[in-house]
Amino acid sequence: MGFKEQINQDRIPRHIAIIMDGNGRWAKRQGLARMFGHKQGVETVHRITEAADELGIQYLTLYAFSTENWKRPAMEVNAIMQLLDRFIKDAKEDNDKNKIRYVFLGDKSGLAPILADKCTELERLTENNSSLLNIALNYGGRAELVYACRKLAERGGEITEADVSAALYTGHCGDPDLIVRTAGEYRLSNFLLWQSAYAELYFTDTLWPDFSETDLSAAVMEFSRRKRRYGGV
Ligand code: IPE
Ligand code: IPE
Ligand code: MG
Repeated sequence: MGFKEQINQDRIPRHIAIIMDGNGRWAKRQGLARMFGHKQGVETVHRITEAADELGIQYLTLYAFSTENWKRPAMEVNAIMQLLDRFIKDAKEDNDKNKIRYVFLGDKSGLAPILADKCTELERLTENNSSLLNIALNYGGRAELVYACRKLAERGGEITEADVSAALYTGHCGDPDLIVRTAGEYRLSNFLLWQSAYAELYFTDTLWPDFSETDLSAAVMEFSRRKRRYGGV
């Protein structure tokens, strides 16, 4: 029996968010420069996007680049931006067969204008597709809250929790049910601070480039066994 059959279909997370960590360590272990870890990490993105779809996950959110990742050496940042550029190009070419809707979460104005435009183009091209893939790029949870506060202050009037949720970058899809972090770190690193309030958290030592369909299924299986109480009994 495969994983899919073993998981109670009523208890599948609707929305999974993943902190894709460990690319650098993966490369180091192979005796390679860090950028090769990122390159391999992109392969995992393709694999896991497909696997999530097969498992029946509606929304997938991937943390690709944080507002703090600009602190890294310019060579590494450039390599990551080049990989993103390539990723977007491939996504456009594969649009007919993949039917993925891409949404970028984060501040596009902090990106190179050409890359920002390509992100917007991909969003427009795919906006009517059914399976949603959010890519958090130049994303920070605190920056996002400031962005939402400014929007709401401009609008004026009463502010409810629902208003804040709607003003965030994730207004179109809501909160993740499950947050996965790879590579054995136990922190959120400024990811989805508001949206993670009642998310189930799952940590694995597996480095992102090694993260497989089986690892994803194991996380979903674990989620299906959790009891979510939301403060109740
Ligand atoms: C995650 O892998 C990818 C990004 C943050 C862009 P890392 O590059 O953080 O890998 P480690 O944590 O150094 O191994
Ligand atoms: C979090 O990973 C950001 C992404 C996965 C894009 P980091 O590797 O940047 O996080 P820290 O520095 O270990 O907290
Ligand atoms: Mg890291």
